[in-house]
Amino acid sequence: MIELEFSIDLAKECGKIIKENFKGSFSVELKGDNNLVTNIDKTIDGLVRERIKKSFPSYGIVTEEGEDIEGRSSKVFVIDPLDGTTNFVKGYPLVAVSIALLEGNEVILGVVYNPILEELYYATVETPSYKNGNIISVSKTDTLKNSLLSTGFPYDFSEYSNFPQFEKLFRRSISVRVDGSAALDLAHVAEGIIDGYWEKGLNIWDIAGGSIIVRQSSGTVSDFSGESNYLSKGEIVATNGKIHKEILEVLSDF
Ligand code: IPD
Ligand code: CA
Ligand code: CA
Repeated sequence: MIELEFSIDLAKECGKIIKENFKGSFSVELKGDNNLVTNIDKTIDGLVRERIKKSFPSYGIVTEEGEDIEGRSSKVFVIDPLDGTTNFVKGYPLVAVSIALLEGNEVILGVVYNPILEELYYATVETPSYKNGNIISVSKTDTLKNSLLSTGFPYDFSEYSNFPQFEKLFRRSISVRVDGSAALDLAHVAEGIIDGYWEKGLNIWDIAGGSIIVRQSSGTVSDFSGESNYLSKGEIVATNGKIHKEILEVLSDF
């Protein structure tokens, strides 16, 4: 797929900016309750838009910090320029750039890059998933009881807090991590270091890139009802497949 090399190069270019400014000085603003944005998020956002317009002028563009651009093509780049902004602000090394390419409603390519740990994940509909050039696959854990999970909490708690779900899944599993980057949570499921991940209250740019990386590493991705509307609903369950039903059952209690 011609867009793969472009997307990997772009992720590395964005990653360089993240790395150069990590633990450096940058400006921080509040977008909403606890929802931070820095000038680095905005700089990278501008850069990816420029690069796409130049290389794929007919494609649509959706990024977190810019206005949506409707393209002439059915292909749309969906990008989170900096996933894990709170981590970035604090110097916690789980930050990523997440790039997805959609054709219609289908994600056909995903690249997630953590430039601090130098971990580059990618997949297309035509390939397996890779981390730093090696094929990755999900874990083999077959019970929730033996699983390590991850999740995230929405910035706005008014409609869905995730606390009851967290408590129940925490009690039913080995433990639950809250790492602050949805894109990396998905990559971690894809490489088998996390057995399952759930979160609600997300945007398409948080999960589009990571979702295909999970799917192409033999994982299962769905919304909380087990259907495939996770991008439009902004709620996702991503697992190794073996524990998917058990997590859906717990979530259906609420
Ligand atoms: C956030 C991260 C976090 C998730 C939030 C997202 P941002 O993205 O992915 O893990 O819990 O819901 O908004 O704001 O750092 O790009
Ligand atoms: Ca994000
Ligand atoms: Ca972001």
